[in-house]
Amino acid sequence: MVGTGHRGTGMWGTQALKEHGDIIEFVGLCDVNKGRLETAKKMMGVSCPTFTNFEEMMRKTKPELLIVTTVDATHDQFIIRGMELGADILTEKPMTTDEGKCQAILDAERRTGKKVTVTFNYRYSPHRQKIYDLLRQGAIGTVTSVDFHWYLDNRHGADYFRRWHRLVEKSGSLWVHKASHHFDLLNWWLESEPETVYASGALENYGKNGPFRFSNCRPCPHKAACPYYWDMTKDARLMALYAANEQHDGYLRDGCVYKEDVNIWDKMAATIRYANGVHASYSLTAYSPYEGYRIAFNGTKGRIDAWIKESGAMKMEPYDEIMLSHNFGQVEYIQIPQAEGHGGGDVLLRDRVFRNPTSPDTYRQSAGSRDGAMAVLIGVAARKSMASGQPVRIAALTDLKPAAVKA
Ligand SMILES: NC(=O)c1ccc[n+]([C@@H]2O[C@H](COP(=O)([O-])OP(=O)(O)OC[C@H]3O[C@@H](n4cnc5c(N)ncnc54)[C@H](O)[C@@H]3O)[C@@H](O)[C@H]2O)c1
Repeated sequence: MVGTGHRGTGMWGTQALKEHGDIIEFVGLCDVNKGRLETAKKMMGVSCPTFTNFEEMMRKTKPELLIVTTVDATHDQFIIRGMELGADILTEKPMTTDEGKCQAILDAERRTGKKVTVTFNYRYSPHRQKIYDLLRQGAIGTVTSVDFHWYLDNRHGADYFRRWHRLVEKSGSLWVHKASHHFDLLNWWLESEPETVYASGALENYGKNGPFRFSNCRPCPHKAACPYYWDMTKDARLMALYAANEQHDGYLRDGCVYKEDVNIWDKMAATIRYANGVHASYSLTAYSPYEGYRIAFNGTKGRIDAWIKESGAMKMEPYDEIMLSHNFGQVEYIQIPQAEGHGGGDVLLRDRVFRNPTSPDTYRQSAGSRDGAMAVLIGVAARKSMASGQPVRIAALTDLKPAAVKA
């Protein structure tokens, strides 16, 4: 594993070992922060060697599989070098952050014959799988358009502005870091690939918009006045991973959301036209009072509405619902029990990756480099469209030509 932070140690470390420790063995851990690396090793309870030099880890340990859980903009170097040094790759989303890196990953996979898997856990939640199923059954006829609106709240949404994610050069912005999850869902649900993207966005709440600012929350003199003050000391795991290792890299996990250097956007909207003719209207708001999303699929025979509340003051039910409306007919309500860990997706994704990689993939939830690229490229196109004011063609970004019906 390269990148022994929160996601690496949790989702792909402790949890993977707990469920699949009988069939997986960690042979090496690598991170640029030597303190976090040692903390990670203890947290995961493994005895493998640790490395701050990636090449050295690869050469000495020769892993079958390399897990890439570093900062987004660095994924490409480990994916490419990892394959060149003989490993298959399991990379966290986003696969990478720009079109040049996307192309380089695609080229390296073709050249080495190794395999990239992108861990799109969102595909695995039972609620989203049910939507996939209804669409495939033709429950609303042919889909013609989609309304998709995602809300990040003032707690989890704000957290992106505290961390490295606040910089386009590290995360590709929320267009790539966060929205690529949502774009992958659209690509998967529609079984088609994006053709053009037209987008706009702004930074209106965080960053330079704040009334005051400081380096980070713990020593901040504005604690009492700041609505975004966050007491990281209450989270022992985060204190051990980050606060205890600040001296090695200066990284502040509880950075100020009002820092002047924030250069990502906190409100975004895009129109995506798919190769099969579907139009999608997408928006992302990063300072909402509650977290969740609303989606609707308009079809020739009806409409599917679905919504998820993940947090906030709104009433929470123990199930997630789908409303299926038939043109000139009945309305059906379908209830799906809720589950922990990204809607129950994390556990199912680990099962597929480690335990049952060759079992039938009924819902086509496994994702490779083409899926990873198509999700990232919508975000990249959105960034370019914002800059130019023009629609951007996906085919102009890499050598992938969008297919009307996914192979
Ligand atoms: N699928 C999901 O739901 C989900 C959820 C959270 C995070 N993620 C993804 O997981 C990845 C890690 O996120 P995180 O929240 O754990 O971040 P993090 O900051 O906690 O961890 C990243 C780690 O990478 C290390 N690192 C950075 N650059 C490096 C380099 N050049 N070489 C070696 N190590 C390096 C950092 O020191 C840090 O320990 C990201 O790509 C993120 O998008 C996915």
